[in-house]
Order: sequence, then structure tokens, then C-alpha cells
Amino acid sequence: MTKVSIEVLSGPDARQARMRGDVRDGLSGISKSIPPVWFYDERGSRLFDEITRLPEYYLTRAERSILEARAGEIVELSGAATLVEIGSGTSEKTRVILDAMAETGALDKVVLLDISEAALREAALQLHRCYNVPVEAVVGDLRDEFDSIPAGGSRLWVFLGSTIGNFGPVERRQLFGRFARAMGPHDRLLLGADLVKDPARLVAAYDDQAGVTAAFNLNVLEVLNGELGADFDLEGFSHRAVWNVEESRVEMRLRCAAGQEVSLPAVDMRVSLAAGEELLTEISTKFSEDGLRGELVAAGFEVDRCWFDDHDDFMVVLAGLSDPTYD
Ligand code: AVJ
Repeated sequence: MTKVSIEVLSGPDARQARMRGDVRDGLSGISKSIPPVWFYDERGSRLFDEITRLPEYYLTRAERSILEARAGEIVELSGAATLVEIGSGTSEKTRVILDAMAETGALDKVVLLDISEAALREAALQLHRCYNVPVEAVVGDLRDEFDSIPAGGSRLWVFLGSTIGNFGPVERRQLFGRFARAMGPHDRLLLGADLVKDPARLVAAYDDQAGVTAAFNLNVLEVLNGELGADFDLEGFSHRAVWNVEESRVEMRLRCAAGQEVSLPAVDMRVSLAAGEELLTEISTKFSEDGLRGELVAAGFEVDRCWFDDHDDFMVVLAGLSDPTYD
């Protein structure tokens, strides 16, 4: 039996097709956008890693402090033997959960799903080396059903880092539905979400002094240039982070200073950007405890517990299906 298996659902062709569809949809309207999933090529994944260590980017540290304080409790409450990480990236943040599962001797398998094949391969090999359990890695998109996640056992699904914030209200409902359909009656979902706070801190977290987030944001145009043969002139764009109070989210945008005519041969499009026009590249929704609990309940979950860091910046929720059909 292979101990590390990597299933590429979204190989180069599927990836390209998805990207083309997203770019067609995102750039053909009046207000233009590019979905954040395309940030994460090899360079983008590396830049994101750097972001998680920035002084302004409190999210990763806040979440880690919660997991470090509560890992034992989370593992005990979940009773899980298999860890399924959705949007795993380097799987850094999950180590503390895995340590707690390994310590009780419960851990029997790890499943990872991420869009970045390079990050996934590295994480899968490392986790296998460290915990000596089978690791199944799936290269895929969170916008698809979780059909390729192996069934069976009691699983702890972890979806951390506030990646949920990248989804708008309608997309969140759909995503929670995909979790609910994929999860079994004994499974648990561990969700990390960033909370509403002082807008100045929120904006600083997405517009750091060192300019790493700016480089991360601009990199998406590099990805489109490289993978779709587009000719965005990166020099003409600048990074913006804006707090949208009505939607309770930080928006990352790329502002095109002068007009630019961009050709995208892979989708057979030419896009005219006006002087001052902005592309929306990411939303990072900030939640309230009640709001997120309500969304989970509406999607058919029952919340076991919520935990917070010492500054109430971030929240981690453990939930199961509220009306599981027992097998
Ligand atoms: C990985 C989606 C949670 O929204 O905070 C970090 C990505 N973007 N800095 C976030 C991100 C800019 C991050 N998520």
C-alpha cells in the first residue's frame, strides 16, 4: 500500500479551463474581479507564507494560540481518527492538532486538499515523515464537491486560517452545504474565522509596511500572464486594501493608474481598463460569533464549542451535523 498518494483532480488542463472561465466571468463585466484562488502558484504560496509571519498579520498567530491552548480538547471532543484538511497549504497550522491526535494514538490517516500542487506535495511528504501514517493528497478547488475525499471512519475536517472569509454570503452557504453533504454523522468540522475589529488594524493586516501583501496581490497578474499568455503591465498597477463596512470585509484591489489595454489570448479577449479602474482580487470577510453560528445552524450544523484567543481577534468553531442519519 502506498503511504503517500497524490490525486491530481485539477491537473494542468482542468486548472487552465477553470482559470479561463474565471477570467472570462471576472473581467467581462463593468466591475472587474479575479477570484483569489489564482494567487497560489509557487511564488504566491511562498509569499502567503511570508504574510503569515508579518507583524501586522495577526490572524495566523491568533489562530495558532487558540489551537495550542485547545488542541487536546478539540481532539477529545471530535473523537476523530482521520484528519481531513481543506485548503491545507503547507499544513503548518494543523501540526498542533495532528500532534494531539498522534499523542492519543488515535491518528490513522491524513487527507489534504489544496489548489497548489507544489505546496501539497511538500506537505504530504512532510506529514508522512513526521507522523508515519498514510497521507492522501488531493489537488482540487474548494468550489467543487468534496467527492474525492475518501469516506469512512470518524473524521475531523479542518478548514482553518479564515479561508472561509474569501467566500461571500451565498458562496458560504454553498460551501457549508458541500461540507454537510460530504461529512458523516460522526464527523466534525473545525473552522477558523477572523472577527470584526478596529478597521485600522484590519487594513494594516492587508497592507503591510514591508510590501509583502502588495507583492502577493500583484502576483495574480503574473499568474495570468504566465498561464494565460496575458500582457498585464504590472508596473501600471498598485495594491489597495479597503475596509467595506456594509459587507463586513476587507477588499484587496489592484488599481490601474493609467488606462491599459490588456490582451488575453487564452480566452480570446481584450480588456480595456480605464485610468483609476480597480480590479477586485480578494474579499476577506470578518465575522461576529453570532453571525457565523447562525450560518452554520442554517446550513444544518450544530455548534459544539467556540474558542477565542486572548484578544478576541479570532475564533475557532467545532461543529457537527445537527440531524445526522445514523448508520
Ligand atoms: C488565506 C484567505 C485567509 O484573507 O487573510 C492574506 C489571504 N490575503 N493577505 C486572508 C490573504 C492577503 C488570507 N486567507
